[in-house]
Amino acid sequence: MKPSTYKKNSRIIVYDADLIQQPGAHLFAAEAWESSGSVVGQAPGRSSALFLETGFGPAVLRHYFRGGWAAHLSRDRYVYTGLERSRPIAEFHMLARLYKMGLPVPQPLAAQCLREGLFYSGDLMTRRLLDVIPLADLPDILQNDPAMWIATGACIRHFHDHGLVHADLNARNILVGSENTVYLIDFDRAQIRPGARNLFEANLKRLQRSLRKILDPGQLEQGWKYLQRGYKEARHQPGPLQ
Ligand SMILES: Nc1ncnc2c1ncn2[C@@H]1O[C@H](COP(=O)(O)OP(=O)(O)O)[C@@H](O)[C@H]1O
Ligand SMILES: [Mg+2]
Repeated sequence: MKPSTYKKNSRIIVYDADLIQQPGAHLFAAEAWESSGSVVGQAPGRSSALFLETGFGPAVLRHYFRGGWAAHLSRDRYVYTGLERSRPIAEFHMLARLYKMGLPVPQPLAAQCLREGLFYSGDLMTRRLLDVIPLADLPDILQNDPAMWIATGACIRHFHDHGLVHADLNARNILVGSENTVYLIDFDRAQIRPGARNLFEANLKRLQRSLRKILDPGQLEQGWKYLQRGYKEARHQPGPLQ
């Protein structure tokens, strides 16, 4: 990975120069990707992520949209308090750090921060994980498969051992591939806080709440015990605390 910066007027792009030779506004122009027939799918969600086939491989493009009450003020503009603090650039760097540590996350490709006066809007492009399904879409498997729960618990523990606190660990931000490979995504507002046990606990509680929407209480209680077992028994080398 070779993180590099491109600046033009009020547009700042951070990108991996090993993969992207021509950075620019076109990377984040959803309509242009569509009109060239490069959009091969879409994921539902606040930001509605686009799945792209690009010259540098499969990618996911996501625009940052506000949620909750703030969405009434502005759909996609945030107050600018510095480049590194902007959501897309912070998420790009966080992903790069986790990816380098060998954690199961998508490789970051590019992020853009577009300034407009006191505000900015932003976008993020990551390598698309292929053949994965959000945990939230696997209720039938969760009802019958302790191994998936155990793998999920072990994956979350792996991140916590590296100090990662996820800001919204719900069952749509956990993607499962074949043979129970488990990935975490969506590191918007995530932090590195080694040993922050109460925050790690809050991550697990958040996930438990989101699973209540897809499983009945008995199924969840039973599965959750396996998840806790996976979490407790996972053996990882704690990573460098950078
Ligand atoms: N790198 C990726 N590979 C495959 N699917 C992805 C990837 N990134 C996001 N997705 C899909 O897009 C959805 C939304 O992305 P996410 O980063 O969670 O944004 P948000 O929750 O803000 O909408 C995810 O739930 C997932 O289904
Ligand atoms: Mg998400």
